[in-house]
Amino acid sequence: MVITLDGPAGSGKSTVAKVIAKKLSLNQIDSGAMYRSYTHLCLSFAKEQKMKIKDVIDSKNFKDYLAKQKLVIEFHSGRQIIHLNGKDMEQFIRQPEITENIKFVADARFVREMVNEQIGVLAKDYSIIADGRDMGTVVFPNADFKFFLTASLEVRASRRLEEFKRINPEFTIDQVMREIEKRDHDDENREFGQLKPAQNAIFVDTTNLDLNGVVNVIINIIQNKR
Ligand code: DC
Repeated sequence: MVITLDGPAGSGKSTVAKVIAKKLSLNQIDSGAMYRSYTHLCLSFAKEQKMKIKDVIDSKNFKDYLAKQKLVIEFHSGRQIIHLNGKDMEQFIRQPEITENIKFVADARFVREMVNEQIGVLAKDYSIIADGRDMGTVVFPNADFKFFLTASLEVRASRRLEEFKRINPEFTIDQVMREIEKRDHDDENREFGQLKPAQNAIFVDTTNLDLNGVVNVIINIIQNKR
């Protein structure tokens, strides 16, 4: 069983996927967390080499460095855990520095191929719900169910504001809206794996729904069709 959940930042994909994974005994693949982990690696390498991240991504030395890193993805009770050389990545990958630089890494074709291959290997052994930008279009064109989550810019920004305020209490809703607009632009315009709904995706507008509301809509659709 493969379910894909794509959509823009703040549409609620990862939170919804976590709950559905639990309810339907699936494993959740959070592809954004994988791109974040590769961005963390790229930034570490750039700092070590005193290089700019956009120069690092094309260098052969970075590819050699990546080949030596052990980025392992495991599921613990359906939740995805990413370990880098034995260390849980979660605390490192939600920092603003990662989000600001993710574009350079997510645009790189070789990184996308690595991520997609890792996800494909996991999907051979597990029933999954995969969330991201290109899960239904590129990674799982034959998924059993494809959903595309949307919400208004204001609502998406207000969902992200709390998260931003934990890092810096001074953040305003306008700043978060600008950050999300920029990321929408980057995500919709990348050459490979851009954010767009799959042709047969089911749209779920989460603007006026809470978490339970979105989960119920999706689970009802799945149960009615099965
Ligand atoms: O879902 P998220 O905010 O954690 O994703 C972070 C970034 O990772 C997103 O802005 C673009 C990139 N990404 C991607 O290019 N393709 C995916 N399937 C998932 C995320």
